[in-house]
Amino acid sequence: MVPKILIIDDEEHMCWALDRAMRQEGYQTEVAYRGRDGLNLIREESPSLTILDLRLPDMDGLEVLKEAKAINPKLPIIMLTAHGTIETAIEAMKIGAADYITKPFDLEELKLVIKQNLLVIQLETEVTFLRSELTGKYGNIIAQSKIMLDIIALIERVAHSNASVLITGESGTGKEVAAVAIHQNSPRHNKPFIPINCAALPEQLLESELFGHERGAFTGATARKLGRFELADKGTIFLDEIAEMSLNMQAKLLRVLQEKSFERVGGTETLSVDVRVIAATNRELGEAIKKGTFREDLFYRLNVIHIHLPPLRERKEDIPLLAKHFIQKYGHVYQVEKISLEAMELLCNYHWPGNVRELQNIIERSAIICRGNEIEPEHLPRELYAPQRSSSDVVVDFPDSGISLEGLEKELILKALEKSGGNQTKAAQLLGITRSALLYRSQKHDINWN
Ligand SMILES: Nc1ncnc2c1ncn2[C@@H]1O[C@H](COP(=O)(O)OP(=O)(O)OP(=O)(O)O)[C@@H](O)[C@H]1O
Ligand SMILES: [Mg+2]
Repeated sequence: MVPKILIIDDEEHMCWALDRAMRQEGYQTEVAYRGRDGLNLIREESPSLTILDLRLPDMDGLEVLKEAKAINPKLPIIMLTAHGTIETAIEAMKIGAADYITKPFDLEELKLVIKQNLLVIQLETEVTFLRSELTGKYGNIIAQSKIMLDIIALIERVAHSNASVLITGESGTGKEVAAVAIHQNSPRHNKPFIPINCAALPEQLLESELFGHERGAFTGATARKLGRFELADKGTIFLDEIAEMSLNMQAKLLRVLQEKSFERVGGTETLSVDVRVIAATNRELGEAIKKGTFREDLFYRLNVIHIHLPPLRERKEDIPLLAKHFIQKYGHVYQVEKISLEAMELLCNYHWPGNVRELQNIIERSAIICRGNEIEPEHLPRELYAPQRSSSDVVVDFPDSGISLEGLEKELILKALEKSGGNQTKAAQLLGITRSALLYRSQKHDINWN
């Protein structure tokens, strides 16, 4: 983003000189000769920085400063003063001017002051962004739906115990966010939170990741390595994608959960740890148990407390709040502040197969594409416009004059026959009725076969 500098000064030649100097520095510029016009530009153009003359024909410069600060408290304003005494300059600084420069001034000095102030805003923006990244990840669950508020209450309650927690839910529903929230709200919050993705590593590597290994335990084990369980001592271990763990590893994990002790790979010393276990999966563990790919006893060990995060489409009330949260998060970076009603409506009507993660990605993408400060429907990806119907739905044009149920039935039978290529049994199947029912209805409507 090229910074935009607004120059408010009634002296035309001064404006011209400043305008040229700023453009040479690579900034965009706006110029106003009157205080009122300057304030309007602050409202409409959201400049990054303003150079303001203390003496203007229509308004006192200090007044303009006050109003400008009311419009945008963060806007850095550099006062130019030719006739001002030091007192007025100090007054201006008290009201919130970033700096002042006395006329006649050295252009290089002004450029430097501008550069410094722009750097300060850039750093502030980055800090805000990083902070929101942290709160987003560490414990700040954004939600307003009843179902999620109940889950947050449950998280707060179970955080204080040491019970194992199993978090389930589709991909992107916030399982890791929930796990972090449990840890952050627990008495263990100033001890480590150690996540490990059980799907990311082949069995042997996973074993030594979890339990560590001794030097020489296998080729390449040149030094002792501490496992995640050891690292998580007094804290929390987060076993992500637990359903992907092999049966062999499941047996080893079960032993740790039962005995709270284990040995490093290639080691003989038995180590005891105090670790709280949180596991997560987007799979149906019940199914996996039936198929024999997941141990039932491990399931019961993990599932002491079960938290299921519903997909976003089942808690649409959260969409506006989440969207606003992500706009705040990315808006600072891309200068986007809000989202139009129409765009919000599209977000609320979409079925979100990728859940909160998808919403977050779409808002970030739109914030990048959007050139103004508001996200509009045209900034949203195409899939949000597509009609959201499941393939089993039938589209019916409902004319103002009404529609006859009988006519519709005939229409449907004809369509089914067309689709089945005249095969009656198939057509009946498509309509969910028996073949004789189809024959009866066809006769009723005078439908001829062949
Ligand atoms: N309620 C929420 N409030 C704020 N941010 C959220 C919320 N839920 C999810 N997110 C954000 O959405 C993204 C996905 O969340 P997370 O990684 O916790 O999902 P997950 O269920 O673990 O997904 P996966 O199954 O794919 O690992 C993250 O960037 C997270 O910060
Ligand atoms: Mg996850």
